[in-house]
Amino acid sequence: MTTLISQDYINLEHEFGAHNYHPLPVVLKKGKGVFVWDVEGKKYYDFLSAYSAINQGHCHPKIVKALRKQAKKLTLTSRAFHNDCLGKYEKYTTQLLGYDKLLPMNSGAEGVESALKLCRRWAYEKKGIPENEAKIIVCDGNFHGRTITIVSMSTDPSSFKGFGPFTPGFIVIPYNDLNALKKALEEPNVAGFLVEPIQGEAGVFVPDAGYVKGAYDLCKKKNVLFIADEVQTGLARTGKMLACEHEDVHPDLLILGKALSGGMLPVSAVLANNDIMLCIKPGEHGSTFGGSPLACKVAIASLKVLVDEKLAENAEKMGALFREELKTYEKHHDMVETVRGKGLLNAIVIKPKNGKTAWDVCLALKNNGLLAKPTHDHIIRFAPPLVITEDQIMEAIDIIKETLDAFN
Ligand SMILES: Cc1ncc(COP(=O)(O)O)c(C=O)c1O
Repeated sequence: MTTLISQDYINLEHEFGAHNYHPLPVVLKKGKGVFVWDVEGKKYYDFLSAYSAINQGHCHPKIVKALRKQAKKLTLTSRAFHNDCLGKYEKYTTQLLGYDKLLPMNSGAEGVESALKLCRRWAYEKKGIPENEAKIIVCDGNFHGRTITIVSMSTDPSSFKGFGPFTPGFIVIPYNDLNALKKALEEPNVAGFLVEPIQGEAGVFVPDAGYVKGAYDLCKKKNVLFIADEVQTGLARTGKMLACEHEDVHPDLLILGKALSGGMLPVSAVLANNDIMLCIKPGEHGSTFGGSPLACKVAIASLKVLVDEKLAENAEKMGALFREELKTYEKHHDMVETVRGKGLLNAIVIKPKNGKTAWDVCLALKNNGLLAKPTHDHIIRFAPPLVITEDQIMEAIDIIKETLDAFN
């Protein structure tokens, strides 16, 4: 049997897979904690964490244990029947996060779609908006996934161009602009405001202090649902269990995904109180895999790891260290424009130099043993697993500094 090398795997994907991603040329085969290894055995710090799905670290033993134990017993019943895991998961999660009810789904995009449906249904049933007239306000630069409806509200041509006709019913306003929100809320038939507390895919845009709270208050005044997409920012990533907690905001609809399974399988959820959640009745929404026994056990284990290992606190501390160390580069490096973020969701905005871009920096980081990926060509996101220790983050910072120094 011939042993395949990285290039062979890359060639296989290229020949037989859809070309809908542009990965860094690295082929991974093993992960543990904050590290991953490629097929040649080279070890790297993972500073992407599968877009924040691996907050608990790769192959966390407690989550793997829960997965294996349940996989041997019962994996899927569909919602045609009850199972002995779903109710316990719903109870644990709603009590942890302070909601009446949970709706289980799979991908982040499905979570967002479900929240949009709940919002529209609530608008017709409870707010009295005429059927098919509900509008939902969204923000410029948003990223909520890849379905037709979600790309209908995207302002990024690489997300929406060539995929029309689009779903109507959205009003787009600038992000981090309370006046724009106030104005949009004057339009008739507004049902909800969908927002990321920090825009992740757009390049880790942290809004001004007070934006999230201000937006929530404006929505409340107009009886409009405040819908937080915390698929990327939630579950301890930004130094709190939810990013909205930084401003003491409790969203009407909360969307979670990614780290809800510690990266084991697609698990997402929408949380809301009865007034909203019970607007959808049996037979009106669902998913074959949503709420599977396997997903429920994995999700409980994943949430417990976040709580037991105090990963929000660690994200806060390690993130502060990361920014403190790298902020010094802002004025002293030709290619470093800005360093920004919250908790362990951070980014460096890169100024191209001599034809070298963020992509070249990421290739050099890879060669030096750290994986990170550019978003929007000129921004590099740094989001390691939240289990990272101080020694590890200092070593990673050294790698980043040395790599940047070589470009100066
Ligand atoms: C804020 C946000 N919402 C939704 C999604 C979509 O999640 P998924 O890729 O699991 O559909 C993402 C993915 O990056 C995201 O960052």
